[in-house]
Amino acid sequence: MDIALFSPSSLFAQDDDSSSDEEEEIHQNYEERSHKFPGMDLVIREFTFHQLNANLLWPGTFAFTEWLVQHKSWLEERRIIELGSGTGALAIFLNKLIGADITTSDFNDEEVEENIAHNCRINGILPVLPHIRHSWGETFPVTEPDWDLIIASDILLYVKQYPNLIKTLSFLLKSYKMKDIAAFAGEGDGLPWPAFLMSWKRRIGKEDEELFFSGCKDSGLSVSHFGSRVYCISLEETSHSIVDAPICTGMR
Ligand SMILES: C[S@@+](CC[C@H](N)C(=O)[O-])C[C@H]1O[C@@H](n2cnc3c(N)ncnc32)[C@H](O)[C@@H]1O
Repeated sequence: MDIALFSPSSLFAQDDDSSSDEEEEIHQNYEERSHKFPGMDLVIREFTFHQLNANLLWPGTFAFTEWLVQHKSWLEERRIIELGSGTGALAIFLNKLIGADITTSDFNDEEVEENIAHNCRINGILPVLPHIRHSWGETFPVTEPDWDLIIASDILLYVKQYPNLIKTLSFLLKSYKMKDIAAFAGEGDGLPWPAFLMSWKRRIGKEDEELFFSGCKDSGLSVSHFGSRVYCISLEETSHSIVDAPICTGMR
């Protein structure tokens, strides 16, 4: 059992947060559980508490993996980064499924990074997947990011963080340098290069959902609903490649 220090006042941190700043000791219990993913079982270690919920494997991941398996040709040949990786389960699944070149990322936190590395090791991924510690909205630690695809599951819980999340997304999408393979894939591929694919199961209010999507549009990003609570956010000028995609149903 390990002990972590945290401040309850940092929960969903807000500028106007006036709650107590007292620090409390949290006794973290770690537990490894086997979970069924499409075509494979993975053992994932979770722990008692994390101020932004990175300690647990969220149920939306399972629905998203089902959808990704049906569209796995869209993932091939792409360098992928996951935002809000939490336990790392989604990235581990994709690495084992198609050998995806995938980088995990999450809040700037050693405990989360170590837990993802642990989960890689117990699922036979060595060396462990690369990980980036980054809190949305802060300067991204890679100055010239080059990920073809950004993915995330269940990260829209934090309404106050939407501007920061959109800032990070815009940076990752807008600093992308188009590659030959992307131009070549263009016509036949239902997914733009670059793109952000996300899904969530945890219910958030319709107004909050709209707040996030309108924030994306105000930042020059385009939003498409791909069905099954999967959304694609891309640069406006590349959105033409998804408009004609058969499963694209437009915003609900
Ligand atoms: C609800 S959890 C989902 C975790 C994982 N994607 C899953 O589905 O199991 C949300 C994740 O977003 C991360 N997160 C929340 N706010 C963040 C921020 N401001 N910067 C970076 N990561 C953040 C949390 O640390 C957590 O891992």
